[in-house]
Amino acid sequence: MWVKLQAVSLSSILSHLIISISLVGVAPRCYDTGNFTTNSTYGRNRDLLLDSLPRNASANGGFITATIGQGSDKVYALAMCKGDSTPEKCFSLVNDTIHELMDTCPNQKEAYSWTGDFSVVHYADHSFFGTLELEPSVAVYNTGNVTSNLTEFDTVWESLINSVVRKASNGSSSLKYATGEAELGAFQRIYSLVQCTPDLSEQRCDSCLRQSASRYESCCHGKQGGVVQRPNCYFRWEMYPFYTANASTTASLSPPPSPSSPPPPAASPPPNSVDSEIRKGKYRSARCMLISGIK
Ligand SMILES: *[C@@H]1O[C@H](CO)[C@@H](O)[C@H](O)[C@H]1NC(C)=O
Ligand SMILES: *[C@@H]1O[C@H](CO)[C@@H](O)[C@H](O)[C@H]1NC(C)=O
Ligand SMILES: *[C@@H]1O[C@H](CO)[C@@H](O)[C@H](O)[C@H]1NC(C)=O
Ligand SMILES: *[C@@H]1O[C@H](CO)[C@@H](O)[C@H](O)[C@H]1NC(C)=O
Ligand SMILES: *[C@@H]1O[C@H](CO)[C@@H](O)[C@H](O)[C@H]1NC(C)=O
Ligand SMILES: *[C@@H]1O[C@H](CO)[C@@H](O)[C@H](O)[C@H]1NC(C)=O
Ligand SMILES: *[C@@H]1O[C@H](CO)[C@@H](O)[C@H](O)[C@H]1NC(C)=O
Ligand SMILES: *[C@@H]1O[C@H](CO)[C@@H](O)[C@H](O)[C@H]1NC(C)=O
Repeated sequence: MWVKLQAVSLSSILSHLIISISLVGVAPRCYDTGNFTTNSTYGRNRDLLLDSLPRNASANGGFITATIGQGSDKVYALAMCKGDSTPEKCFSLVNDTIHELMDTCPNQKEAYSWTGDFSVVHYADHSFFGTLELEPSVAVYNTGNVTSNLTEFDTVWESLINSVVRKASNGSSSLKYATGEAELGAFQRIYSLVQCTPDLSEQRCDSCLRQSASRYESCCHGKQGGVVQRPNCYFRWEMYPFYTANASTTASLSPPPSPSSPPPPAASPPPNSVDSEIRKGKYRSARCMLISGIK
């Protein structure tokens, strides 16, 4: 009886989530700041540099900046993987992202792309390392509603987001990434993952993530999950675990007011289903979805 109930509710949660985080097919973005011609030195440099990124990013802990060439043929590139990616996963995510990018932006001097579960690749004919770029950005939400008292939810959520943002911003020049979870009443938990490209300063990382959190709040407050993606930072929260936690990147929280809580229910939808939906870019546009333009 219990098992059956469990199975029913699990699959209904699951299908709900798959519909709900059905987001955005916006990536990749080709910038309209100039084109190169086929077989040009810039084009060859771009292809060489992009080809090196999957291996270099995965060998380097999930983040790499690199350049190739001289003068007007110089290409700058950045690649980053989600902080809990294995080197193998990082390689294949960056490889996929680059192939999509090259298919979509065959001759653009600058382009940017991300995949949902997630990796970021950006290249340009000028240096953008350490520069905070807030656009293009995408904000999407899980269509389920928060069912608990929103006032109490907000307090827990804000404190969790504050903790993960502080922890990630205070990371190193090779990793600015944090996850965290907080108890919401006796039976629910909130999970969050935030990450900046670690070429950003602490202050710029903090700013990128806080602007992403407020963007979520202004578009989608009351929804039970959301993602905000920008060229330099990634923000996501859900009411189920969707990352692999690691003590060294877990933000510590002040203990909740009522400490006598039983463990959270075990039934959580497998994050892969949602993540692969995000990754495949099968996102549906939603009322609150915000996509803003490119410079
Ligand atoms: C670059 O090429 C694209 C087509 O591939 C074209 O739409 C765009 O206008 C070009 N941009 C510039 C700045 O020439
Ligand atoms: C680019 O180079 C290839 C191989 O060298 C050649 O076959 C092709 O015609 C060239 N394309 C252009 C537009 O010059
Ligand atoms: C990246 O890869 C290239 C060639 O694959 C290699 O020569 C270079 O040293 C690598 N750079 C870094 C920073 O790992
Ligand atoms: C890289 O991605 C492309 C297209 O997604 C795929 O065809 C290719 O096999 C991948 N390469 C590796 C080494 O995984
Ligand atoms: C969430 O709440 C909104 C407005 O309160 C309602 O229109 C919507 O149907 C709810 N969504 C779900 C999945 O319950
Ligand atoms: C929600 O919680 C706040 C603070 O605990 C309380 O003041 C408020 O009455 C609650 N609202 C509802 C609708 O239960
Ligand atoms: C930032 O991290 C360092 C260790 O890397 C730690 O000593 C310091 O207390 C942290 N600062 C904040 C504000 O968390
Ligand atoms: C946790 O993070 C540390 C430091 O980044 C790393 O050395 C370790 O391999 C990670 N552990 C797991 C299980 O991923």
